[in-house]
Amino acid sequence: HLVCPMNTSPFVDPNKPSQEIWEEFSMSFTPAVRDVVDFAKGIPGFCDLPEHDQVSLLKAGTFEVLMVRFASLFNVVERTVTFLSGKRYSLDTLRSLGAGELLNSMCEFSEKLALLGLDSDEMSFFTAVVLVSADRSGIQDLDSVEALQDKLIRGLRNLVMQNHGEESATTFTKLLLKLPELRSLNNMHSEELLSFKVHP
Ligand code: HEM
Repeated sequence: HLVCPMNTSPFVDPNKPSQEIWEEFSMSFTPAVRDVVDFAKGIPGFCDLPEHDQVSLLKAGTFEVLMVRFASLFNVVERTVTFLSGKRYSLDTLRSLGAGELLNSMCEFSEKLALLGLDSDEMSFFTAVVLVSADRSGIQDLDSVEALQDKLIRGLRNLVMQNHGEESATTFTKLLLKLPELRSLNNMHSEELLSFKVHP
């Protein structure tokens, strides 16, 4: 099995060589990853960062951006996850195939994000903040990354303040509190990915 919704299905033909499984899986998730790179290039100021830092932020942050973009694949009410092929599987099925705590945490994240009721502009600002807030280890020009982050956070705050009435301040705070949650999902997910690579 390969219980990641970025695949087309959690079921894998047991007779298929693992290289082929990876190739098919990559074909499924590569367009989504490419969209994140294009999105990054469109963030005003991102392309002015040193190329090395652009790569580091993308490496560290792509999963987190995808998690936000694809949060709606997790349907907590119906207890299902939709894979990139469009096929839906119940949480119970995915659990029986080996998914665990991480799946629960992602469902919870998605449910709470949806409750904030962001529109598409806010979502896009938030994902820009997520990307420039990615793990800073190995960043060369920290000052520029921080300056860009400040600019994006101010933009996100202005938008949220315009759109959420009395809830504005709490909505903005809750959004910022999503950043450490995303980091933790990223770390847990990297472990799943690594252990899958070791014993596919
Ligand atoms: C698990 C790869 C992005 C959600 C996994 C596994 C791999 C993987 C190899 C382990 C599968 C197994 O042991 O059966 C990737 C790659 C990604 C990616 C290469 C980059 C594009 C994402 C995103 C999400 C996600 C963006 C959420 C929207 C999950 C879930 C699991 C998982 C829910 C199962 C967790 C569990 O076992 O509890 N992923 N993934 N993945 N991934 Fe991904």
